[in-house]
Amino acid sequence: MASVNDKRDTKNSNSMWGGRFAEGPSAIMREINASIPFDKVLWREDIAGSRAHVAMLARQGIVSQQDADTIDGGLQQIAAEYERDGVPEDWDLEDIHMTVEARLTEIIGAVAGRLHTARSRNDQVATDFRMWVRAANQRAIAGIDAVLGALVTRAEEHADSIMPGFTHLQTAQPVTLGHHLLAYFEMLMRDRSRFADALDRMDECPLGSAALAGTGFDLDRDITAEALGFAQPTRNSLDAVSDRDFALDYLTAASQCSLHLSRLAEEFIIWASQPFGFVKLPDTLSTGSSIMPQKRNPDAAELVRGHAGRVIGCTTSLMVTMKGLPLAYSKDMQDDKPPVFEAAGLLDLSLAAMAGMVADSAFQTPRMRKAAEAGHATATDLADWLVRQADIPFREAHHITGAAVKLADEKGVALDGLTIDDLKAIDARIDERVFDALSVDASVAARASYGGTAPVRVRQQVAAAKQRLGMEE
Ligand code: ARG
Repeated sequence: MASVNDKRDTKNSNSMWGGRFAEGPSAIMREINASIPFDKVLWREDIAGSRAHVAMLARQGIVSQQDADTIDGGLQQIAAEYERDGVPEDWDLEDIHMTVEARLTEIIGAVAGRLHTARSRNDQVATDFRMWVRAANQRAIAGIDAVLGALVTRAEEHADSIMPGFTHLQTAQPVTLGHHLLAYFEMLMRDRSRFADALDRMDECPLGSAALAGTGFDLDRDITAEALGFAQPTRNSLDAVSDRDFALDYLTAASQCSLHLSRLAEEFIIWASQPFGFVKLPDTLSTGSSIMPQKRNPDAAELVRGHAGRVIGCTTSLMVTMKGLPLAYSKDMQDDKPPVFEAAGLLDLSLAAMAGMVADSAFQTPRMRKAAEAGHATATDLADWLVRQADIPFREAHHITGAAVKLADEKGVALDGLTIDDLKAIDARIDERVFDALSVDASVAARASYGGTAPVRVRQQVAAAKQRLGMEE
């Protein structure tokens, strides 16, 4: 790394800045300016953008077909080189755009200089980055689909499996595991639609906006937009070169999705703990301890939870970068890429990890059922029974139920372990029929309101979910 004292070096004036600077950029300037260490991942998009641009220039008669062919051949050669050897990192060339152009000049000579006609790095980077983010969105949707598919499969398998439902992490009412898993299905479906919306909105091509104001050359922007897979060109050149909300759309969707994955991971972490024992995580997604042989750590789930924090941090990073920038391009915007690349890597991994965790975990259903039976989870069912069968106002029924819970605790039994005499002593209006309501099975079966936890409803939602995913029945 350059020292702050060596402010100048002896390199000759950078070709891009031409004669305005007597000396080359200082080592520090070169280092702070260089984005090639991270934007080299855009090489495919950059070459695709250039090929589309030069083909259009030729069609419009702005460069000759022969020059365009030469340029295109050179670009294809560069693509093959990068594919084979990776992208060289030379800070003097600043970024991927200059790196490709410099190599093109080496290969085909001065004609390479015609490629940048009617173009600026400002519309170039906006186009490259948009294409990259578009692909990241598509990957996110595919990754979500894998988790969704696993959730539906496991929900169907466990439509009748009873577990405690919690509020405040206290046993509240029995629910089915299928219902619990389908709650995450709903969250991830909304995440999916956020990525799909983002894709729709970013479906406009900035190329041809040039530096900021458009260009005097007679471009056909529809041709480049179509060649690069966009629905249409952007409508305002100032907006096109300085808009980064396509990246923020991706990041906010990624944040929300990571947050959901983090909550799901947290469930698995709790369920896998010994006191719960609700799930045995797949070997492939757990680790052992180097010192405690009995340990089986939910590291993958914990990292999914951890990664959510980083993804949210990436989103904040780009929002803060953008918030004070006047139109149009400012170099601050070069800092747009690292947070997006980082977040995308984290999200892709988190989705893959959670798909595996949902698909391959072994749910310990007897243990879940026992936990549901232990926490007086059917207390609400007793109260509801008193309202329905004995026409007692709910508040009073709640009070009577409280007395029954207290007695059950004293006797060390579940609510349905109390005798009819026990119950009659609490309130004479209770009769034998109450036992039909007090089992956990009766409790979940009773919650058959639309969207409720009853197995019939869960099966109905599984079928609907399969249809929404286009899964075969
Ligand atoms: N490396 C730059 C970036 O990522 C490319 C655009 C440079 N444009 C400019 N006017 N300096 O933003």
